[in-house]
Amino acid sequence: MTEWKRTHRCGHLRKEDAGQTVVLNGWVNRRRDLGQVIFVDLRDRWGQVQIVLDPDILGREQFAAAERLRSEFVIAVQGTVRERPEGQANPNMRTGQIELHVSRLVILAEAKTPPFQIHQASDVDESLRMKYRYLHLRSQQLQDAIAMRHRTAAAVRSFLDSQEFLEIETPLLIRSTPEGARDYIVPSRVHPGEFYALPQSPQLFKQLLMISGFERYYQMARCFRDEDLRADRQPEFTQIDVEMSFVDRDDVMDMMEAMILHVLREVKGIEVPSPIEKLTYDEAIDRFGSDKPDTRFGMEICDLTAYVGASEFRVFADTAAQGGVIRGINVEGGASFTRRQIDQLSEGAVAMGAKGLMWLAIQEDQVRSPIAKFLKTAELEAIQDALGGKAGDLLLLAAGQRELVSDVLGRLRLSLGKELGLIDESLFNLLWVIDWPLLVYDDEQGRYMAAHHPFTAPMDEDLHLLETEPGKVRAKAYDLVLNGVELGGGSIRITNRPLQERMFAALGFTMEEAQAQFGYFLEAFEYGAPPHGGIAFGLDRLVMLLAKAPSIRDVIAFPKTISASDLMIEAPSAVSDKQLNELKISLQS
Ligand code: AMO
Repeated sequence: MTEWKRTHRCGHLRKEDAGQTVVLNGWVNRRRDLGQVIFVDLRDRWGQVQIVLDPDILGREQFAAAERLRSEFVIAVQGTVRERPEGQANPNMRTGQIELHVSRLVILAEAKTPPFQIHQASDVDESLRMKYRYLHLRSQQLQDAIAMRHRTAAAVRSFLDSQEFLEIETPLLIRSTPEGARDYIVPSRVHPGEFYALPQSPQLFKQLLMISGFERYYQMARCFRDEDLRADRQPEFTQIDVEMSFVDRDDVMDMMEAMILHVLREVKGIEVPSPIEKLTYDEAIDRFGSDKPDTRFGMEICDLTAYVGASEFRVFADTAAQGGVIRGINVEGGASFTRRQIDQLSEGAVAMGAKGLMWLAIQEDQVRSPIAKFLKTAELEAIQDALGGKAGDLLLLAAGQRELVSDVLGRLRLSLGKELGLIDESLFNLLWVIDWPLLVYDDEQGRYMAAHHPFTAPMDEDLHLLETEPGKVRAKAYDLVLNGVELGGGSIRITNRPLQERMFAALGFTMEEAQAQFGYFLEAFEYGAPPHGGIAFGLDRLVMLLAKAPSIRDVIAFPKTISASDLMIEAPSAVSDKQLNELKISLQS
C-alpha cells in the first residue's frame, strides 16, 4: 500500500488542482464505457470524482485491469487532475469541473455484484438493506447521517465541557427494577438463577453521582428498553444524560436550552429564537391535544362547552351534565371535503375511542351539517365565532371526557396538518412542556404510576395532596419537544428519604418492597444529598430531526428492525446447551 497511499481525497479536488499529479483511493461508484475510454466515478468518504481510464495513457496491461472494474471494487489510482473539456462540466457534482486522467491503477479489492446499487439503496426492500447494512452505510444519505450524528455528539460534548460537566460512565450490568418499560435481562453464571438488567437509563447512578459531589455530570449513555418499537424507538438507544446539583427547574432548562441552541448552530448553522416557549401540560393538552405538540402549524383546539353546554341538543347537554367537554377544530378550506373524506375522519375518530365526530361545513349562505337542525342559530354562530370559522371552512367537533376529546382532536389535527401540507418542514420549533402531573392512574394495573419516574419531585405547593388527591399533584418536570417529537425529559429530583418513601407509597409499594428494591438509594439520601435535577435527550431522535430522516434507524449505524432483530448478525439467536448449562438455565419447550 505504501506507494498507493492517497495524496488527496476524491471529494476535495477542485479546478485549482488542475495540473497536479495525485493518488486517490476509493470505491468504484459507477463505471461507464465511452468507446475506447472508461469513465469511473470514484468514491471515498469525502465525495466523488470522475476518473478517466484511457488505454493510450494507461498502456495495455493496466487498461486490462481497468476493463475488469465493476461497482464497489476498491482501487487506488495515480493520475493528473485536468479541467474538463468545454461543455462537459457537471454542475451537480462538487468536483464537476475537473477529472483525473489516470496513469496508474491498482485493484486493492474486488467486489461481488452487490445485492443492490448503493445509490439506489433507498428503493430496495428494508430487510435486504438491513442484512447488508455495511453496504447501505456506503450510501451518501447514511454517510451524511452518521457524520451528522458525530457532529451533534461533538457539539454536545464541547458545550458541556465548556460548562465544566464531567463525562462519567455508569455500569451496564445493573439490577432489574419493576418501574418503567420491560428490562433486558442478562443471566449471571457466577450467581446461578440471578440476573442483571441492562439499564433503561442511568437515572439512579447519576443521582448517586450528585450525592458523591460531582455536581455536573453527563454521559452519552446507552439505554435498553424492551418495548414495542416505532419509527422513533429502538430497543437500544443513546441518551445525552445530564444531572446538576444546587439547581432549580429554570437552571436546568436554561442550561439545556443553551446546549440545544449551540447544537443547532454548530450542526445546522441555524439560530432559533430564544427563550424557547414554555407551555404547561394542561395548556398543551387543551390547545393541541398532545403532550408533545407540533406547533409548526395552527388549527388549535377550541373549547365550546361554555357556548353550547346548555344546548337542547342532547349530545351537548348530556356531555356537559356529565362533566365532559365539547371541543372543536377548524379545518380551513375543508368545506370542500367529500362526504367520503368526512366519513373517513369520523371513522378515524371512532377508532380512537370517540363516540363520533360532528361536522359543520360552512358555505357562503348556509351551514351544511347533520347536527345543524338540532342547534339554535345563536349556538351555530357561537361555534363558528369561537373557532373563527368562515365560508369554506370545515369545523370538526367531539364531545366527551376531556382527555379523550383532546386526544382525538389532537390526533386529527396532526394527521390533517400533514395531509393538507400545513407543516413548514424547514422549521425547527422547540417547546418546553412544564407542570406535568406527577402521577397518572393506570386502569390496567389499578394504581397510580409515575408520569416520568418515581424520583421526580412534586411541586411544593401540591405536596399536601400526595396522599389525598394524588392525581392533582404536579411535578417539577419538563420535556423538550422539537417539531412534535419528545426530544428529552427531566425533572428536579426528590432528595430526601421521607418524601421518597411517600412517593413509593403513592405508587403502591409497601415499605418492605421499597426497601428491597431501592434500600441503597434511600440510604444514600441520609448522607447529605444536595438538591439536584437533570434531563436526558434522545441522541438518536435529535439527529433524526436534524437530518430530517424519517426514522431513527437512519441515524444509527447498526439499528434493529421493528421486531428488535439484527438481520445482519442474526441476533437474537439460540445459544448452546453448554452455555445454558453453565447458567443453570433450562428452556421451556
Ligand atoms: P425518558 O424515559 O423520558 O427519561 O427518556 C429520555 C429520552 O430518551 C429518548 N428515548 C428513546 N429514544 C429511542 N428509543 C427509545 N426506545 C427511547 N426511549 C426514550 C427520548 C426521551 O425523551 N432518566 C430519565 C431522564 C431524566 O429524568 O433525567 C429518562 O430516561 O428522546
